[in-house]
Amino acid sequence: MEDIVEAVTSLYKQGDWKTIVANYRSHPQRNKVLWVFPTEENFEFIANCMVQLNCETILSIGCGSGLLEWMITEATGYHVSGIEVDGAWWRCKYAPPTFIPIIFTAQKLDEAIITLLGSSSQIALLFCYFNNGPAFKEYLDKFVGKVLIIIGPADGKGVHTDPRPFGDVSEEWILHDSQEVETSKDYIAVYYRK
Ligand SMILES: C[S@@+](CC[C@H](N)C(=O)[O-])C[C@H]1O[C@@H](n2cnc3c(N)ncnc32)[C@H](O)[C@@H]1O
Repeated sequence: MEDIVEAVTSLYKQGDWKTIVANYRSHPQRNKVLWVFPTEENFEFIANCMVQLNCETILSIGCGSGLLEWMITEATGYHVSGIEVDGAWWRCKYAPPTFIPIIFTAQKLDEAIITLLGSSSQIALLFCYFNNGPAFKEYLDKFVGKVLIIIGPADGKGVHTDPRPFGDVSEEWILHDSQEVETSKDYIAVYYRK
């Protein structure tokens, strides 16, 4: 079987995100580089929400390889930074390649990350297949921005994330819009707070 990491890395070097989303969204080993491969329509949806909600950049928490973040920037023009938990995993030889420069934090949030979360009200905070509810709450606590994007499986997909795209945010967050990734039961949910 084709090695997805090699194939995606080669397309990344050519700047060819469209072939990545078209050819690898259903690959059996896609989770090695990314849990959800949005469609071109999904990227447009994200770009429209950014305009409607007056956001300038995206900060992605638990970005993994950063492939999604790189593709969002290529597809929409919005700059996306990524944060990951520092750990031996990222330095071991089995770690996935990284497609953006990643900002590492300790499990307990570094001061620099807290400063970043409080730096601008025009940052959208993104969680894609995030799996750490207590950390999600801590990031939101320190976040001064007004837009939250959650990408993950809806009920019925049989996969659990924390937060889920629907039902895991407090009342101050209001659903602006959402879109399914094809018919995958994965959703992109965009929230704002007044
Ligand atoms: C299931 S993976 C999803 C990775 C990527 N967003 C994707 O969709 O492919 C969840 C990621 O969240 C990261 N994570 C867990 N707790 C975190 C925390 N407190 N801060 C930042 N990242 C965290 C994990 O290291 C892991 O890479």
